[in-house]
Amino acid sequence: MSHAPQLTGAPVVRREARDKVTGTARYAAEHTPPGTLYAWPVPATIAAGRVTAVRAVDALAVPGVHTVLTHDNAPRLAEPDDPILAVLQNDRVPHHGWPIALVVAESPEAARTGAGRLLVEYESDEHDVTLTEDHPGLYTPEEANGGFPAVRRRGDFERSFAAAPVQIDATYRMSSLHNHPMEPHAATAWWEDGHLTVHDSSQGSNAVRKSLARVFGLDPGRVTVVSEHVGGGFGSKGTTRPQPVLAAMAARHTGHPVKTVFPRAQLAEVVGHRAPTIQRVRLGADLDGTLHAVSQEIVTHTSTIKEFVEQAAVPARTMYGSPASTTTHRVAALDVPSPSWMRAPGEASGMYALESAMDELACALGMDPVELRLRNDPATEPDSGRPFSSRGLAACLREGAARFGWQGRDPRPAARQEGRWLLGTGVASATYPVLVSRSSARAHAAADGTFRIEVNATDIGTGARTVLAQIAASALGVDVESVEVRIGSTDLPTAPLAGGSSGTASWGWAVHKAATALADRLAGHRGPLPAEGFTATGDTEEETAADSPYARHAFGAHFAETAVDSVTGEVRVRRLLGVYAAGKILNARTARSQFTGGMVMGLGMALTEGAAIDPVFGDFTAKDLASYHVPVNADALDIQAHWIEEDDRHLNPMGSKGIGEIGIVGTAAAIGNAVRHATGARLRELPLTPDRLLPYLL
Ligand code: MOS
Repeated sequence: MSHAPQLTGAPVVRREARDKVTGTARYAAEHTPPGTLYAWPVPATIAAGRVTAVRAVDALAVPGVHTVLTHDNAPRLAEPDDPILAVLQNDRVPHHGWPIALVVAESPEAARTGAGRLLVEYESDEHDVTLTEDHPGLYTPEEANGGFPAVRRRGDFERSFAAAPVQIDATYRMSSLHNHPMEPHAATAWWEDGHLTVHDSSQGSNAVRKSLARVFGLDPGRVTVVSEHVGGGFGSKGTTRPQPVLAAMAARHTGHPVKTVFPRAQLAEVVGHRAPTIQRVRLGADLDGTLHAVSQEIVTHTSTIKEFVEQAAVPARTMYGSPASTTTHRVAALDVPSPSWMRAPGEASGMYALESAMDELACALGMDPVELRLRNDPATEPDSGRPFSSRGLAACLREGAARFGWQGRDPRPAARQEGRWLLGTGVASATYPVLVSRSSARAHAAADGTFRIEVNATDIGTGARTVLAQIAASALGVDVESVEVRIGSTDLPTAPLAGGSSGTASWGWAVHKAATALADRLAGHRGPLPAEGFTATGDTEEETAADSPYARHAFGAHFAETAVDSVTGEVRVRRLLGVYAAGKILNARTARSQFTGGMVMGLGMALTEGAAIDPVFGDFTAKDLASYHVPVNADALDIQAHWIEEDDRHLNPMGSKGIGEIGIVGTAAAIGNAVRHATGARLRELPLTPDRLLPYLL
C-alpha cells in the first residue's frame, strides 16, 4: 500500500457544498412523487382539555381540499415509543399546539385555507404553564436526560459551605428556548405494496424507521426512511417528530403520497424546546479561591405526557474539584409542550449558571477569574474519581488568555468607557461529554480503483460525508477523492443519529473499522481485483459497549468582549474567542465552522433568545423568527475558534472528541460576565435584553 498524505485534519471542502448553493441538494419536502397531496397540521388553541367537535364542512368545501383527518377518522396507531407521536388518536389536548387535525389537499395553499376554515370546539380544563421555584408539583425524578442520576451528593455540603470564609449563593433563570433549524420539520411519505417510504427531516433515520415500524405495526424491513440533506436540527430532529407519522397516516388514508411540513409558527410547540431552568448555585471557598463546597440545584418543567429533565446540574460533576458537592434536579409536569434536546442540553443551561457563579466568586475574592478556574482544576473527575482521558481546560484557559489579550485586565467594573459605550471582558469554561454509539459501515473497493463507503450517517449541515471520506481515505491510504460516501438512508448499514456531538466518532469508528478490514484484504491480494471488487464491513458493537476506566470530556474556554450602550442598554459582543481541547480535529475547515456556529448559538442565548409562555393562553409568545430572535450576521462581529492539539488514546481510532455542541457551552456566561465587568450590573436572568439592563444604567 502506498503511503498517503495525512488526510484527517486537512481542511477539505465539504462535498455537497456545490449541490447546496446551486439548489440541487434535495431536502425532505423537495420530493414530489406523482399524485402528491399536501397536509397542513392544525394545532390546538387551548392548553388543556378535550376536543368536543371538529366541523369540517367548510374546510372540505375549499377547492382542492381532499380530506380532513381528526381523531375520529385517522388510522389507529400502536402505542408509540414516544408519547408525542400518538397524534390524532383521541380527543385529549395535553398542551397548546398539540396537532388535533390534518387538512390534506392538492396544494399547500388549499390545505392552509382549509385549515383556516375548520371549526373546532373544545372543553377546556384549567391549565398551569408557569414554573416557579416553589411550585407544589415539583418532584425529584429518578434520572435527568441522558440517564444521569438526578441527585448526587459527595461530602457534607451544608457543613463545608457554612464553614467557608467566602460564599456565593445566587439563583439564575432562563426561559424556554427554541431550536428553530432553518429547514422546518417536513416529511414526504408514500405506501407501495405495503412498503412505507418516507423522506424525513431527521438527525437519524434509523430511529425514525423504528418509530414508524412500531406505530404502524410493520416489520422495520418494510419501512425506508431517507434523510439525505437536513437543514439543521439542533436536537429537535434527534428524536422522531410527528411529521412522518402524520404524513404516513394521511398517505395510508388517501392512497396518495403526502407531504407534511410544519409551518414555522407551529414548530415551537411540536418539536421540543429547551426547558426553562431556575438554578440555585452555592459556592464556598477559601480566601485563596480553593473550592470546598459546590452545590447546583435545578428546577425545571416537563409536560404532562412525557418526562424530560434538562440535565443542567450534570456538568458541575465534572468541572471543578471540591470535597463537598451536591447536584440535584427537580421537575414539575405542567400543561406545556414536551421539552427535549436542544443545543447542548444540560451543559448549555447548567454552565451558564455555574460559570456565572464562578465569576461572582472571583469578584468576591478579588481574584482573576482565569486564575480561579486554574486553581480548581481537578486531577481526577470530581464526581466519579476516574482519571480524565485528557483534560485540556487549563491549556485552553491559558492559550485563550494569551490570544485574547487577557493579561493586564483591569478588574474594576465600569472602568472602561468609549463614548457612550461601556466596555468589559469576561471568561467562562466549557465542557461536553465524549459520547459514542454503536454503528456499522460497509467499505467497498471497486475494480476500477475507486472506493465506496456506506453508512446511514446523517449530514445536518456539518460536513459528515466529507469527514467520513477523510477517515476512510486515511485508513485505506488512498486519495480522498477516490472515496465515494453514501449516507442518509435506512437502506444503508445501521448507524446512530447526528446528536450528542457523537456522529463523527460513532460513524467514523465503524467506517475506520470497515476501511481497515478492506485495506487488509487488499494488502493480501495480488493482481487485478475481481469484477465485483471487494467488500468489508465494520460494526463497533463491542468497542462501544466497553466501559471506559477514564472520564472522557472535551473542554474549552470562552472569552468575550462586550460593549454596553449606557443610554439604551443594548449589548454588542465585539469579540468572542474560544479555545477548545477536543481530541484530534479531523477537518480544520468544517470543525472551525461548527465551533463558531456553536458560539453564535451561545451569543443568541445570552442576548436575544428567550421564549415566554403566556400564563392565560398557555402558548409560547414568540412563535416565529420575527419574534424569536436568533443572532444575524450583524451580531457576529469577530468570532474566533482555536484548538489545542490533543493526543488522547482512550477515545476511538481517530482520536476525536465531539465538537458540535461545546462551542455553545459557557458562551452565554462569558458574555454575561463581560457585561458585569462593563457595567457593574450582575444580571442573573437570560437573555440580557435592554429592558433588564437599563435599570442599572440610569
Ligand atoms: Mo444535539 S441537541 O445533541 O442534537
